[in-house]
Parts: sequence; C-alpha cells; structure tokens
Amino acid sequence: MAKRIDVNDLNVYYSKFLAVEGVSINIEPKSVTAFIGPSGCGKSTFLRTLNRMHEVIPGGRVEGQVLLDGDDLYGAGVDPVTVRSQIGMVFQRPNPFPTMSIKDNVLAGVKLNGTKISRSDADDLVEKSLRGANLWNEVKDRLDKPGSGLSGGQQQRLCIARTIAVKPDVILMDEPCSALDPISTLAIEDLINELKSDYTVVIVTHNMQQAARVSDKTAFFNIAGTGKPGKLIEFNDTTAIFSNPEQKATEDYVSGRFG
Ligand SMILES: Nc1ncnc2c1ncn2[C@@H]1O[C@H](COP(=O)(O)OP(=O)(O)OP(=O)(O)O)[C@@H](O)[C@H]1O
Ligand SMILES: [Mg+2]
Repeated sequence: MAKRIDVNDLNVYYSKFLAVEGVSINIEPKSVTAFIGPSGCGKSTFLRTLNRMHEVIPGGRVEGQVLLDGDDLYGAGVDPVTVRSQIGMVFQRPNPFPTMSIKDNVLAGVKLNGTKISRSDADDLVEKSLRGANLWNEVKDRLDKPGSGLSGGQQQRLCIARTIAVKPDVILMDEPCSALDPISTLAIEDLINELKSDYTVVIVTHNMQQAARVSDKTAFFNIAGTGKPGKLIEFNDTTAIFSNPEQKATEDYVSGRFG
C-alpha cells in the first residue's frame, strides 16, 4: 500500500563530512517525485536515507526525522531490514543475480526476508510481479533461464519485478535508465507511470526530459561548492519547476545554463 514520506530537517553525514544539510520534504503517496541537481549535490545520498541504506556505509549517519505514514524510520527499535522491505530500491545498473533463473531473481527479495512461500503461491507471485514490471510476455517461456540472458532494459525491469515482489510501500530509483537505450528507457518510464497507481515512487534522474515526463513533483538540489553540503533548493509541482521556478538557481539548472 502506497505510503507518504515526511522528512524533517535531515542532515546526512559521512563521518564528519556533512554531505546533505537541512532537508525537509513531503512526498505524497501514489505520486512520482523526481530528484534533480548537479553531480555531487547529494541526490543519491539523500535517497539512501529514505530506506536506511545510507547507514550501511561506514561513518554513514543522519540527524533529523524520516516518517513513513507518520512512523519514524529511525525510531528506537525499528529494524532497518524491515524498513528496506517496505521501501524498495532500484539501482543505476541493473543488478540481477546472473546465474540465478529469472524466476528465482523475482523471488530473491522475498526469500531474503525469510518469507516461507508455497510453490504455487511462488508461481503466482512471479507472474504478478513480472506482469507488474511489464516483462511477463517477454519472459514467460523462459522463467528457468538465467537472468543474465536478458537485455539491459529487460534486466532493469526484472530488478523492478524483484522489488515489487516484496510488496513495498515505496519504490526508490537511482538513475534507473542511465544504462539503457532510448526504447528501454521509454518502457521504464511507462512502467513508472503505471506503478504510481499502487506505489509512492521517488526517482533520481539527470535527464530533464525524463523528470518532466514521469514526475508529478520535482525537487531541485544544489551545492554551493566543493566540500559544502548539498541542499534542497526548491520543491514544487514539476510543471512549475520547469516552466516557472521561484529560484534563479533552479531556472539556470533546468534551462541548461548551469556552471
Ligand atoms: N561512501 C562515501 N563516503 C564519503 N563521501 C561520499 C560517499 N558517497 C558519496 N560521498 C560524497 O557525498 C557527496 C554527495 O554524493 P552523492 O553521490 O550523493 O551525489 P549525487 O548528487 O548522487 O551525484 P551524481 O549525480 O554524480 O550521482 C559528494 O561530495 C560525495 O563525494
Ligand atoms: Mg548519484
């Protein structure tokens, strides 16, 4: 079930280095939010704080609050493994397990969570997840073949199927199309558009057209200089960010006049 995310005054550190400072943002359920901004401004770092992946990095820590439907993800007694199953993540490079079959790839996250599942339930879940990721028709006759035998775009949709299979509330994507050709990219964009009827989706992208095409809201992050923390500069409806931004830095960035 899609849930909302509310972030209150979040600081994100790598040991002593303050990488992202003072972010407050409200992400609505069943919407697509795009994070844009120049390289190094902290988009990936901030994204990883939304499912407690940041703290996996040695020295990685946060100050502030991240609420999932009002529950503090960083509260005492909250299990980060549970958080990561509620808030799934799709990475820049498709990362299926290469020797594992397509079917087992879809089930990998479910098994990792220790969920026991009967064979027929597993088959149903595989079909449902692959259909949800718009991949079923292309792979239904080769579910037992290795995931590495798929094209890059198919592998990325397989990773999305693996994420959906654990029935998350939120799906985070960090430049999910940057390794894909334009046709596969459009397939993923169509899929994101469909996913938003069931999930809350957050996507990092360097592609302005993509942000404009897929997102309802856009957050522009920026950095004042090397060694300075990244900050959220402007957050608004995507149409406003691209046609009528309030901040000059946003306008310079979206119109390609940056740097
Ligand atoms: N594991 C790490 N240890 C220390 N510093 C890091 C680590 N990962 C990222 N950083 C630093 O944090 C800052 C933000 O990096 P991040 O990768 O979040 O930027 P980004 O906006 O995603 O950039 P890009 O668009 O290039 O992916 C940078 O100064 C980066 O060097
Ligand atoms: Mg990044």
